[in-house]
Amino acid sequence: MNMHSADAATAEEALALQDTIDSDAATQVAMQDTLLTPRFYTTDFDELDAIDVSNIRDEWDPLIDRMLSDPNKGHFKKNQDWDTVDWAGMEPTLKKEFIDFLISSCTAEFSGCVLYKEMKRRGSNKDITQLFQLMARDEARHAGFINDALREAGVAVNLGFLTQKKKYTYFRPKFIYYATYLSEKIGYARYITIFRHLEQNPQHRFHPIFKWFEEWCNDEFAHGEAFALLMKTDPKLTRGINVWWIKFFLTAVYGTMYVRDHQRPAFHKALGVDPDWYAHEVFTKTSKLSEQIFPITLDIDHPRWDAALKRLQKANVDLAAAKAKGKKLAQFGASLRAGLAFVALYTIPAKKHAVPKFTRLEPSY
Ligand SMILES: [Fe+2]
Ligand SMILES: [Fe+2]
Repeated sequence: MNMHSADAATAEEALALQDTIDSDAATQVAMQDTLLTPRFYTTDFDELDAIDVSNIRDEWDPLIDRMLSDPNKGHFKKNQDWDTVDWAGMEPTLKKEFIDFLISSCTAEFSGCVLYKEMKRRGSNKDITQLFQLMARDEARHAGFINDALREAGVAVNLGFLTQKKKYTYFRPKFIYYATYLSEKIGYARYITIFRHLEQNPQHRFHPIFKWFEEWCNDEFAHGEAFALLMKTDPKLTRGINVWWIKFFLTAVYGTMYVRDHQRPAFHKALGVDPDWYAHEVFTKTSKLSEQIFPITLDIDHPRWDAALKRLQKANVDLAAAKAKGKKLAQFGASLRAGLAFVALYTIPAKKHAVPKFTRLEPSY
């Protein structure tokens, strides 16, 4: 009997089940390393391994128990709810943007898998290795499921090749916490916002994968909870100078999402989603959630916020155009404008608030 990556108990098992019919083009897209494409990360694994969770044990154990109970085992595979997809009849721009979305999502999921799996492999601290093994398991299933969807369109990402050949970016552990915590929580907010929107507007569900987003985002939610608890083990991580780093990562993650989503107008039109509305919705949810551990949130309703985001996006469009034409001076000008727009976003005063004593949250959107 053929086993599916959805039923795998570990990341290794799930990855071994990915067959090798991959397409070079999709893998090349996944290989790209720009400011806007998902990257692979490496870090100081010994420092991570030294984390002591005993002062947060009361919140840690229930989270791990939930992950061990594995509510989504077997979920991430096609079943009778998977409607036939008319890839050949899909409007070409939509098809291109949607495939690009799937490749980028698959790469992001797999990036998490690679980092978590490596931590599990290198570590000896039982609490930490157990957590990272569980998270790697989930991300391998997610990446495998997106690849299933891609294969129907005749493309798939070669995950083994990516592991070996994609460039790894080194981040200090604290930067991994901020960046990964935020990417898990914003991932939750993005998936649940689309899922709820399509519940209300099923005529816009142009592909069956969106039906899987609810359980999917619950996995991401749990991963985010784990990183919130990891940060809680060391209060210095969310104080003093580090608050400026937190603000930096919040701005970078929100800005990147905005720019990336605006590159896919046909995709958002097909979903019936206005990307400006969607961004505001996702930022609002992510900010609310991140109050569990971060002492600040960005003021996304500040009069300067929208205008600076639009400038950042426009500068990125111009930068891509200048690059395509090989115009060096125009590239420099556009990069400078992007940098200034980022500074404009970063210097908007943040909202401060007290962080709750009890950190853990449940998915509620
Ligand atoms: Fe995931
Ligand atoms: Fe995740």
